[in-house]
Amino acid sequence: MFIKILYLFYISYVYGNPPFRESGTTTILPHCSYNSIMEGQIETSGDDRDGTATATNVTGSIMFHMSLNETACIKLETNGTLPGHVGTSSILHSVEFLRLEHHYSITGKYIFGIPSISFDCKCDCAGGDPICTFEEYYHKNCTSSSAAPLCYASFLPFQSNIGCFSSQPSAVCCKMSIRPHENWMFEALTISQPSTVLVLRYRIFEKLNRGWKKSVDEKISVDLNSGGAKYDLNREHRIELIASGSRPHRQLEPGNYFWQIGTGLNEKPQLRGKIAINDFNETSLEKLGWFRMEGNAWAIKNGLGRMPKAQHIQVKDCKAQSYLTTLDAEQFVLEGSDDKILSYNLGSAIIDDPWIGGIEIGNRAITVNHAEGTSLLLTLKAKSQPKAVHHISQFSSFNGSIQLDKDSNRFLNLTFLDTRGTLIGQVFSSETRTQMDIVFSIQTSTNIEDFFKAIVSLPSTIDSRRYICIHASGDLDSQQCQWLEYKADPLNLNRISHRWQQAHSNCNGCNERGVDLFLTNLDPRKWFDGLNSPAEIMMCVFEILLGIVLFMATIALCTKCFIPLTRWLICIPKMPKK
Ligand SMILES: *[C@@H]1O[C@H](CO)[C@@H](O)[C@H](O)[C@H]1NC(C)=O
Ligand SMILES: *[C@@H]1O[C@H](CO)[C@@H](O)[C@H](O)[C@H]1NC(C)=O
Ligand SMILES: *[C@@H]1O[C@H](CO)[C@@H](O)[C@H](O)[C@H]1NC(C)=O
Ligand SMILES: *[C@@H]1O[C@H](CO)[C@@H](O)[C@H](O)[C@H]1NC(C)=O
Ligand SMILES: *[C@@H]1O[C@H](CO)[C@@H](O)[C@H](O)[C@H]1NC(C)=O
Ligand SMILES: *[C@@H]1O[C@H](CO)[C@@H](O)[C@H](O)[C@H]1NC(C)=O
Ligand SMILES: *[C@@H]1O[C@H](CO)[C@@H](O)[C@H](O)[C@H]1NC(C)=O
Repeated sequence: MFIKILYLFYISYVYGNPPFRESGTTTILPHCSYNSIMEGQIETSGDDRDGTATATNVTGSIMFHMSLNETACIKLETNGTLPGHVGTSSILHSVEFLRLEHHYSITGKYIFGIPSISFDCKCDCAGGDPICTFEEYYHKNCTSSSAAPLCYASFLPFQSNIGCFSSQPSAVCCKMSIRPHENWMFEALTISQPSTVLVLRYRIFEKLNRGWKKSVDEKISVDLNSGGAKYDLNREHRIELIASGSRPHRQLEPGNYFWQIGTGLNEKPQLRGKIAINDFNETSLEKLGWFRMEGNAWAIKNGLGRMPKAQHIQVKDCKAQSYLTTLDAEQFVLEGSDDKILSYNLGSAIIDDPWIGGIEIGNRAITVNHAEGTSLLLTLKAKSQPKAVHHISQFSSFNGSIQLDKDSNRFLNLTFLDTRGTLIGQVFSSETRTQMDIVFSIQTSTNIEDFFKAIVSLPSTIDSRRYICIHASGDLDSQQCQWLEYKADPLNLNRISHRWQQAHSNCNGCNERGVDLFLTNLDPRKWFDGLNSPAEIMMCVFEILLGIVLFMATIALCTKCFIPLTRWLICIPKMPKK
């Protein structure tokens, strides 16, 4: 087998692609881009075993360098194989680079909500009637008065005794009720490395007497994980397609993302990220996703142990039952009696990134439609002599700006008027056009469109206004230039303030001196509570003796000293004068 490749360079220009009418419906030819880079012939001749050459077969081949949304076209002249045709006829084969998709497998998922937490606390002054008992409140379940799905009791000793009679520290006991904020439910997804899939659209148009007729329209998915693929597109015209490309330069990082379940029926679910989210096997209180739906019930892993520990309280007035509370966690809502402190952040929607065209969330996979694409090298081979076809591109004017968004995505936001086909742009630092920053190309629409918006990524060296020149592909005379302004949005601010919730509970008659307490305190056994060792008893006895001695001494001092002295002082004025 011996292959000889001859390169013949020729381009067939077809100006314009006027729509042709075909039995009432209009068949619109695709806009064929100016993207063929090489044309040639491959002569294949087989050698017999004894060395005598058999007939040579000649194949024409054309190579295209394509970016997203571009179309490669070849035209074949064939003999009258079509019904109702005599003589040669033209057949246009077109391959459009329709989409570049990333398919991410979902490796784990769970459902979570934003916990909305309300505290119902009571402050218990030392002494007094017991309000908080250790047995009832220390790491115990409770029943919430507001029927919240989760309720944890907590016991927090050693609190301020402001407002109490006693100088001993007071204790606080709380019921922590947790419910899903706004009944929202989110599904968190863990995704792994993507596979890259190109979607091509293959169409055949046949030229009939009255116009063009579309005879084939199919989509071909090419898996690029192995670098490229080879297909026999068409048996009749022996069209063979070889596609190869690289991974695109941007992708979603493997990790955790989430979306809200049950938004409006016609609203598409929005994948969100750019915020710390718990892995499916992780339940850190610092990240989104610690309040989960498990089975059919809300749950917090080891909530009974962890939630009371994460609670902080600051008693303002124990007797009046007013206090401040907070929680040592992130991503929750703290409910007060009349306001709510929202301390959660749902990150941002992935679709807001300019390089993302669309996202489909499936059951076991996520499909991301790339808006930038990658470069595709497409080779089309055909039996007879194929010719590359391209249509002229055009535009009447453009406008736009250079933008830097809050995630530091830097891009040109352009609007074109009356455009179709491929446009080539250049970015210069000055009107003298001595220094060019970058060149780019934009694939606009197939038919003339009044308005066409396009986004072009820019390198970070572009941080001020630039002089932009645009021309239609293949038509340098159409060039137009203008200054575009630079607009930068500030970065997102992360507020690290953490507010405490002011609260007040009603506890009628709490911390009052009751009759019970008075009676129990009359019990002499109570008096010696808290004496645990002989040394303490000795001290106590010594203190009592000292007290008695001091008491006697005071009595003695009074009877023997103060009373006679007073009596003497009172008597002086009554002394009769002799
Ligand atoms: C040339 O084409 C014919 C008909 O399609 C085929 O039978 C033959 O094997 C081809 N020869 C070579 C050398 O490929
Ligand atoms: C069409 O057919 C004629 C005779 O049958 C042949 O000479 C000619 O090469 C054919 N043309 C093409 C493009 O196949
Ligand atoms: C607390 O309640 C949960 C469910 O409501 C239950 O699974 C758990 O066993 C209870 N724990 C204790 C210590 O009572
Ligand atoms: C979760 O599981 C993954 C593997 O499935 C493991 O790599 C990771 O360390 C686990 N994380 C935690 C917090 O256990
Ligand atoms: C381009 O846009 C700017 C502001 O966005 C506007 O002031 C200007 O008039 C526009 N130019 C044209 C030619 O439309
Ligand atoms: C592009 O500019 C238009 C008009 O100035 C604006 O409405 C649009 O939001 C911008 N697009 C992006 C992605 O910022
Ligand atoms: C490709 O076409 C689609 C649909 O018209 C459009 O949304 C997308 O921005 C285009 N992409 C490029 C890179 O031109």
